[in-house]
Amino acid sequence: MFQSFSFKKNKNKEPPKKIKKITYSSLVKEISAYVINPISCPEKLLIDLLDMLNIKSTFRKIHGLQAVGGEAIVIAVQDNIGRDSILKISTGYVAKFGTDKIKVVARFVRGCKIQHLIYKELLSLDNSFFRVPEIYAVSEKPLYCVMEWVNGARAVDYLKTEKNIYKRIDFFLILLSFVEFCYSRGAIIHRDLKAANIMIGTFPGKSYGKLLIYVIDWGYAKVEGNGSLTLEMEGIGSPAHASPRQLVNEDMKNCTIVDEIYSLGLTFWEFVTATYAPEIRSLKKLESKNYMDGYNRELAKKLPQFARIPFLKSRNWEAKDRPQSIIAFRRLITNVIQDMKILVAEKKKKQREIVEVHKGLTSEDKSVNTTIYTDLRTEEEAKENVKKEGDDSIKKEIETSKYGSVLRDFLKLISDMK
Ligand SMILES: Nc1ncnc2c1ncn2[C@@H]1O[C@H](COP(=O)(O)OP(=O)(O)OP(=O)(O)O)[C@@H](O)[C@H]1O
Ligand SMILES: [Mg+2]
Repeated sequence: MFQSFSFKKNKNKEPPKKIKKITYSSLVKEISAYVINPISCPEKLLIDLLDMLNIKSTFRKIHGLQAVGGEAIVIAVQDNIGRDSILKISTGYVAKFGTDKIKVVARFVRGCKIQHLIYKELLSLDNSFFRVPEIYAVSEKPLYCVMEWVNGARAVDYLKTEKNIYKRIDFFLILLSFVEFCYSRGAIIHRDLKAANIMIGTFPGKSYGKLLIYVIDWGYAKVEGNGSLTLEMEGIGSPAHASPRQLVNEDMKNCTIVDEIYSLGLTFWEFVTATYAPEIRSLKKLESKNYMDGYNRELAKKLPQFARIPFLKSRNWEAKDRPQSIIAFRRLITNVIQDMKILVAEKKKKQREIVEVHKGLTSEDKSVNTTIYTDLRTEEEAKENVKKEGDDSIKKEIETSKYGSVLRDFLKLISDMK
């Protein structure tokens, strides 16, 4: 009787609702799901997060989720004095696999301190082309920082819009000057350089409109000779960019500018191609010299010929085989560009000569060569066309033409260009 009564009662009643307990880690997980399309993250989730961390009243407005990084959630906000800023909240506390939380905290705070240090150093520089975002606030509990919101885009997104390869390389050369500058100030090295940690944006204030390179994300940086900022930290930011010393030897402490050059090599590839380098997840592959040499060779194929040498040299597995300084690396790049420009100028000169020869031909001979002439827009196309037309048919034309010798010169010029 009792049983049937209770059965009846239960039948009319809605099943008891499971009350989902929102925890910090479930919220972080939910927000992290917007990694591909951060702007579509509902504001409510971000409000809940700030609420849970008791920092909601610190900000006037939430503009939206900007990014979900490896160890942080990045939100655009307006602080209480009206500055549009970036709020970077560490997610180290909810990291999944065996992360040492103390180290994560120390790394985060140290990164902010180094960023602040560089910012102050840069203030004394006039007309610089590089910056780091100013740090407005850092908190250790909860772990977050507030910094200047860069009015710009991630390097690759900006570089995609710049069609001139030399201009893209110019941005990279500015980056090199910045790395050199940091190295000259207490041997600061970033140790997580990659296109994703570089932004290209405008300068706020009087030189508004000028484009600058901003280097962000200083969590793995190292300052020589400053005890509190030179903790030995394990872990790496980005596997494909990390040098063998970082990866294989797990020796972050002894990283030098030559390790930085290894990461910069892949960043160079990213700037030239305006794409992100493919990530490598397998530790086994990352620790294999053979695999990495193959990876670099494959990537080199996507570069124009002249850019391959600086790329491959900086990506040598052995540190001693890489350029040993930023100056040497820069020289490598500027030299190949110089050689390239000379080559292009020479080819253009030859092309002009060809056109001159063509002008000297009679209309009869021009008709013989019309195909070649009209297709002689670029040297590449010219080479292709000679191949396509087939040397044999052209030879025949030479033999039958009374202007054979002029045509022979014409062809010699083309074949010199090959
Ligand atoms: N000051 C800033 N201004 C504008 N956007 C920023 C700023 N700082 C960070 N971002 C955005 O957030 C993204 C992630 O930032 P950051 O690299 O500092 O975080 P992270 O968690 O360490 O990332 P990752 O692990 O992917 O390197 C950046 O690529 C950029 O799009
Ligand atoms: Mg980053």
